[in-house]
Amino acid sequence: MARRKKIYEGKAKILYEGPEPGTIVQYFKDDATAFNAEKRDVVEGKGVLNNRLCEYFMSGLNNIGVPTHFIKRINMREQLVRAVEIIPLEVVVRNVAAGSISKRLGIEEGTALPRPIVEFYYKDDALGDPLVTEEHIIAFGWAAQQDMDDMVALALRVNDFMSGLMMGVGIKLVDFKIEIGRVWEGDYMRLVVADEISPDSCRLWDIETGQKLDKDVFRRDLGSLADAYTEVARRLGVLPQNAPPLGKPTLIN
Ligand SMILES: Nc1ncnc2c1ncn2[C@@H]1O[C@H](COP(=O)(O)OP(=O)(O)OP(=O)(O)O)[C@@H](O)[C@H]1O
Ligand SMILES: [Mg+2]
Repeated sequence: MARRKKIYEGKAKILYEGPEPGTIVQYFKDDATAFNAEKRDVVEGKGVLNNRLCEYFMSGLNNIGVPTHFIKRINMREQLVRAVEIIPLEVVVRNVAAGSISKRLGIEEGTALPRPIVEFYYKDDALGDPLVTEEHIIAFGWAAQQDMDDMVALALRVNDFMSGLMMGVGIKLVDFKIEIGRVWEGDYMRLVVADEISPDSCRLWDIETGQKLDKDVFRRDLGSLADAYTEVARRLGVLPQNAPPLGKPTLIN
C-alpha cells in the first residue's frame, strides 16, 4: 500500500488519509503525556496495547449496536476508522470520584457517586480543556439540544458496556472520556463514538486491591505504565496469559 498523507499529529496518535474516501488510518504512538503535555515520556509498547484494547472496546460496542467510528484493525499500531466531524467536546462519565471532580468539589477520591455523572469539557488545549455546561455548548453552537440528549445517551451506553466488561475481570471503571463525531449518510446525520477508548482515557482500579491500571500510573509516578496496560489486556484476553514482555514486535500480530 502506498504511504498515506498525514492529516494530523496529536499527542497520542497520528491520523493518515485512509484507502477509501471517508476513511482515516489511526496510528497509535508510544508517547505518553499528562497535564496538558507538561509531563511527557515514551512508553515502549503503549501504542500497540492501546491499538489492541481500543479495537476490543470499539468492536464490542459496534457488536451491541452502539455506533463507533471503528472499522478494523490494520496492524500492530494502526486501525481503520470512519472519518467523522469531531464535536469539540470531551465527554466524561464518572462512576466514582477521582481526579478533577475530587479537587473541584472536595469529594474524597474513591467515593462512589450516587449515579453516573456526565460532564462536558471544551476541547481546547490552550484553555486547558475547561468544564462547560449545556448552556455554553448550545449558545456557542458546538452541538444542538438534540445532540446533547444523544451524546448523554451514547455516553451512558458506553459506560454500561465498559463497566460490565471491566467488572468481569475484577476492574472497577471509575471514569472515562470519549469523543463523539458526526457522520453523514445523505441528509441524515448520526453521532458515533470516535477517537479512542483505552487505559489512556479511562480510570481503572483493581476491585480487590485498588491498584491503578490506567494513565494515573504515569501521571502520579506509580510504576510501569506498560505493565499496568499489559495487565488490563491480559485480563481481558486481548493478550495471551503468558505473553512475554513488550517491545518485541513478533509477540503481537
Ligand atoms: N474518526 C475520526 N475522524 C476525524 N478525527 C478524529 C477521529 N477520531 C479521532 N479524531 C481526532 O484525531 C486526533 C487524535 O489524535 P490525539 O488523540 O493524539 O490528539 P490530541 O493530542 O489528544 O489532541 P486533540 O486536542 O486534537 O484531541 C484528535 O484530535 C481527535 O479529535
Ligand atoms: Mg487525544
